Amino acid sequence: MKNAEIIFVPAPARGHLISMVELAKLFIKRNESVSVTIFIIKFPFDTGVNSYVESLSQHPIPRFTILEIPPSDSESYKSHNHHTLLTAFIEGHVTNVRDQVMAMRQPDYPTRLAGFVVDIFCVPVIDVARELSIPSYVYSPSGAGLLSIVLHLQDLTEFQNKDISEYENSDAQLSVPYFRSQVPAKVLPAICLDKAGSQLMLLCARKLRESKGVIVNTFVELETYAVESLMADNKIPPVYAVGPNLNISAGDEDYDEAADILKWLDEKPPSSAVFLCFGSFGSFPQDQVKEIAQALEHSGHPFLWALRLISIESRLKRYTNLDDILPPGFLERTSGTGKIIGWAPQVAVLSHPAVGGFVSHCGWNSILESVWFGVPVATWPLYAEQQLNAFEMVNELGMAVDICIDYEDHVLSKGEVKIIESKIVESKKGR
Ligand SMILES: *[C@@H]1O[C@H](CO)[C@@H](O)[C@H](O)[C@H]1NC(C)=O
Ligand SMILES: *[C@@H]1O[C@H](CO)[C@@H](O)[C@H](O)[C@H]1NC(C)=O
Repeated sequence: MKNAEIIFVPAPARGHLISMVELAKLFIKRNESVSVTIFIIKFPFDTGVNSYVESLSQHPIPRFTILEIPPSDSESYKSHNHHTLLTAFIEGHVTNVRDQVMAMRQPDYPTRLAGFVVDIFCVPVIDVARELSIPSYVYSPSGAGLLSIVLHLQDLTEFQNKDISEYENSDAQLSVPYFRSQVPAKVLPAICLDKAGSQLMLLCARKLRESKGVIVNTFVELETYAVESLMADNKIPPVYAVGPNLNISAGDEDYDEAADILKWLDEKPPSSAVFLCFGSFGSFPQDQVKEIAQALEHSGHPFLWALRLISIESRLKRYTNLDDILPPGFLERTSGTGKIIGWAPQVAVLSHPAVGGFVSHCGWNSILESVWFGVPVATWPLYAEQQLNAFEMVNELGMAVDICIDYEDHVLSKGEVKIIESKIVESKKGR
């Protein structure tokens, strides 16, 4: 009997890809007659995927194949906004995916195609699976909280005829069946209330309901209420909590920069340092950088701050000098207690005993890593579903303190940029 082959289709974003590769490794480990082929669809610009795919190819995993889908000529995704661009880009690749799948269905192909696992942002690919009568499962790299909101907002829109756009900038509190607490409209992911974004969200929810099951990067002990209520809901496909799918194996330490950071931490007392890191795209306006700096200086605690030198006007323009954005003299005055870095080996830092707190943008991977290493989080969400994650951690689960919950990234925000004052930032850091 030929091995059963499962095709994985991750979104072209590093965090999504890593968590799906970890899931694939679980599949392979569980059953020796299962193989996985991961379809890599790449943006024409690097989203951190290239170096990861490269490192994967250098350490082959048995029964695990990496297959790059040829780029598509379609450029229609370029007319999409940041909420829908990713899925539109995937949609442009459906034909190429289909060609590849057809090749794998030939009688002489060494394995037997058994199923698809598709990232929630890659749902257009599900049509290929359906056309060929191959079962498909949807994978959510984020938690049960986001899944709950997507399903609930679709329920309101399509089954209860409610107009959810009225939640935009509203103080409404939502009763979501899979949440214990009321969820403020202000923490709903921006995609859900955006005109085009909400259409995409509805599409994802519909595809999700048609799928054979939903695989979620969470675990029941973390999001107990949400996971149990999702599992008990017989109006949706089975929900499988299989997380945390994290790559926590070290490796970053090889870089000189990482070695330098870890050496700095080695000299600090246990649980004394606060680590600030806001993800690959996290940046702040200059006034906000100054407030954070003041808070850190005033608190007197050791700090390790991953500060991206990206200007407010554009993510592409970079400052060349830290002195340009920090308060005058800050670097000299804090040279004994603080360290500012451009890039952080997050896993290595969080696992270091000197780290006692983590100011985080609350990307789901960061939350899972903080829980894994037992580092308390202070929340500072920026975009995507991070506000919801922050709310869940602080209010629903009581596992984090808030610096802010409904802060919005200054580049994406349509409204006025809010500045969180240094005294608020600092007050959360006292031990
Ligand atoms: C392993 O996978 C094969 C499909 O190749 C399946 O028939 C079998 O039931 C699986 N075994 C277990 C223990 O799940
Ligand atoms: C896990 O991460 C390390 C570095 O952090 C890397 O060297 C390794 O290749 C990764 N493994 C997988 C399977 O992604």
